[in-house]
Amino acid sequence: MKKRIAVLASGRGSNFQAVIDAIQEGKIPAICAALITDNPKAYAIERAKKAKIPVTVIDFASFPSREMYERALLSAMQQANADLFVLAGYMRIVGADIVRSFPAKIMNIHPALLPAFPGLHAQRQAVDHGVKVSGCTVHFVDESLDGGPIILQRCVRVLENDDEDSLAERILHHEHECYPEAITLFCEERLEIVGRRVRIR
Ligand code: GRF
Repeated sequence: MKKRIAVLASGRGSNFQAVIDAIQEGKIPAICAALITDNPKAYAIERAKKAKIPVTVIDFASFPSREMYERALLSAMQQANADLFVLAGYMRIVGADIVRSFPAKIMNIHPALLPAFPGLHAQRQAVDHGVKVSGCTVHFVDESLDGGPIILQRCVRVLENDDEDSLAERILHHEHECYPEAITLFCEERLEIVGRRVRIR
């Protein structure tokens, strides 16, 4: 049976688009039940509309506190009734209550080879550090920052004259392949978390 997924995005949503395309091409056995965004100006909203995916805006700026925002987000996530929540450029840390409510049901993609360069500006961190390879990581979300069990990783060479933007662009291309692949594995029930490791059956 097809899984229900919901996507959380804050911005341009190119990874969201890659997921929409992979669903439409029949590569991911899922339906995308919702886009949830914290940003009413996110371009991801246009992408959802085009694909006829219901949109819920939980506008961070309209809440008096982070706690109240998180409560509203939790309730939107519960209403989405999804088997999997896909963070696609969702630019906030997911609070502990939400993580505990959906154990092993939230995935994220990060533009570096974790555990190297967690947090913001991962590609800039990689260039500044002088690494020769970087890449992207799809992982389950736990209460740590970008530290949950790793599902898939892709390596990307860092070239001699790369800057943050050129590296980000090259990594992004791989993200668009890697994320649908990881979501497909989840939807086919082929992922098993054993301690810190994710086994692919
Ligand atoms: C991607 O680089 C992703 O790895 C990171 O945020 C960026 C989102 O880009 N988490 P997009 O909104 O999917 O185009």
